[in-house]
Amino acid sequence: MKFTAAIAVLASTAAALPTAVERRQFGTRVGSTVNELTNGACRPITFIFARGSTEIGNIGSTVGPPTCEGLKSEYGANQVACQGVGSPYQATIGANALPEGTTSAAYGEAQRLFNLASTKCPDTIIVAGGYSQGAAVMTAAVRRLSSSVQDKIAGVVLYGNTRNAQNNGKIPNFPPEKALTFCNLTDGVCGGGLVVTAGHLTYTRDVDDAVDYLNERITAAGGI
Ligand SMILES: *[C@@H]1O[C@H](CO)[C@@H](O)[C@H](O)[C@H]1NC(C)=O
Repeated sequence: MKFTAAIAVLASTAAALPTAVERRQFGTRVGSTVNELTNGACRPITFIFARGSTEIGNIGSTVGPPTCEGLKSEYGANQVACQGVGSPYQATIGANALPEGTTSAAYGEAQRLFNLASTKCPDTIIVAGGYSQGAAVMTAAVRRLSSSVQDKIAGVVLYGNTRNAQNNGKIPNFPPEKALTFCNLTDGVCGGGLVVTAGHLTYTRDVDDAVDYLNERITAAGGI
């Protein structure tokens, strides 16, 4: 009886938690600022992530950290270098209104990080992700990379992609099988209108599927 009551309380507590701060628990925890590519030794996998508008640090506090943690839990904490896209990407709300949904300085910084991963760590398998405006950052950066750097990217996940409608959930000038958008049907930004609705804050529940997809892509790229 006590057991049943405890489960019921747990379930109702879990249901009451705001989705935006729900975090799947993995073995390795990372904070909102992670610089394992720029500040650390090369690792077999490099994960580059751009946070959403107004998120803190460089990988934010919603889907960025658990996606990094999910990869680390799959391959080992020291096998994966996680890297957020920091300044000059400021993740301001206003930048969403620009033609590509972010600033050129922002996607330039993401391009710099992809090129750095490729030159500093020629053998690393690169995976990437972005949330909201961060998905626009990834889209604008990846489409502009040289084909040799693009070839080193195994897969990209785009949560609440503000460029979803314009690009049909993919990244122009990049193999369609290498990019996957997670868009809640009720998320207004996915229709191209930059309307943030409740569905825009539900993506922590997609992290498992996103990590599974990146794992499949890493395997398709030869694995580690
Ligand atoms: C989509 O968002 C709504 C809130 O608008 C939420 O109730 C629903 O569970 C979400 N669906 C998924 C698949 O996450």
